[in-house]
Amino acid sequence: MMKLNKNVIEYVKKELAHDVTGHDFYHAERVAKRAARLYREETKEAPNAEGEMIVGLASYLHDVIDEKVVEDTKENSRKITELLKEEGLSTPQIDDIFYIMEHMSYSKNLDKKCKLSIAGQCVQDADRLDALGAIGIARAFSYGGSHNRKIYDPTEEKSKNETYESYRNQTSSSVAHFYDKLLGLADTMNTRSGKKLAVKKTEFMTSYLAQFMAEWDGD
Ligand code: ADP
Ligand code: NI
Repeated sequence: MMKLNKNVIEYVKKELAHDVTGHDFYHAERVAKRAARLYREETKEAPNAEGEMIVGLASYLHDVIDEKVVEDTKENSRKITELLKEEGLSTPQIDDIFYIMEHMSYSKNLDKKCKLSIAGQCVQDADRLDALGAIGIARAFSYGGSHNRKIYDPTEEKSKNETYESYRNQTSSSVAHFYDKLLGLADTMNTRSGKKLAVKKTEFMTSYLAQFMAEWDGD
C-alpha cells in the first residue's frame, strides 16, 4: 500500500480513538487496505498513482466527517482540508476526496443514486465489505448495543426500510438490521472482485443467522 503521511494517520487515530460503534481506527485501516486492493484490481491495465492516493486518504478519513461518529463534522472538514493542503494536495484533489466521503454512505444513496469515480466506488465497496462477514456481524451488534437496540426481537417484522427517514428512525433490533440492510449489500457492490467477496461474506452471515435462529428456538 502507498505511504500515507503520518500526520493524517495520527489525526484519524485521535478522532476515532474512543469509538465503540464499529467505526474505530481499525475499521478505517481495513477499509483503506481493502479499497487499495480493489482499486489496483480495477486499474490493472493503467495503474494510477494519484487515484491510489485519493483512495487511501478518502478511506482513512471517511468516518471522521460522519455525524454518527464524530461531534463536529464542520470543524473536522476544516482540519482535514488544512492537513491535506499541508500534504501538498491540490484543490481539485481535495475536492475529489470530499466528494467521495460525502457521497459514499448507504443512507445517502437510498434516496438518490450518486455517481462515484472508480476511486470512490472502491472506497464505497470496501466500506460495505467491512459491514459483512465475521467483522460485519461484530460491528452490527456493537453499533446496535451502543444505540440501545436489542439483539433480536422475534415479534418484529423482517421488513425492508426503503427511505432514508425510515432507515434512520427505525428502532428495530440488530438482527433486523441484517435483513433491512446487510443481506442486501452484496447486490449494491460496484466492482467485480468486491461483489465476489461480498457474496461469500453474505453466505457466511446467512449460515450464522440459521444457527442463531436454531439456538433461539432451543436447539
Ligand atoms: P453508512 O454510513 O454507509 O450508512 P452505517 O454507518 O449506518 O453505514 O453502518 C456502519 C456500521 O454500523 C455497519 O457495520 C452497520 O451494520 C452498523 N449499523 C448501522 N445501523 C445499524 C443498526 N440499526 N443496527 C445494527 N447495526 C447497524
Ligand atoms: Ni465506514
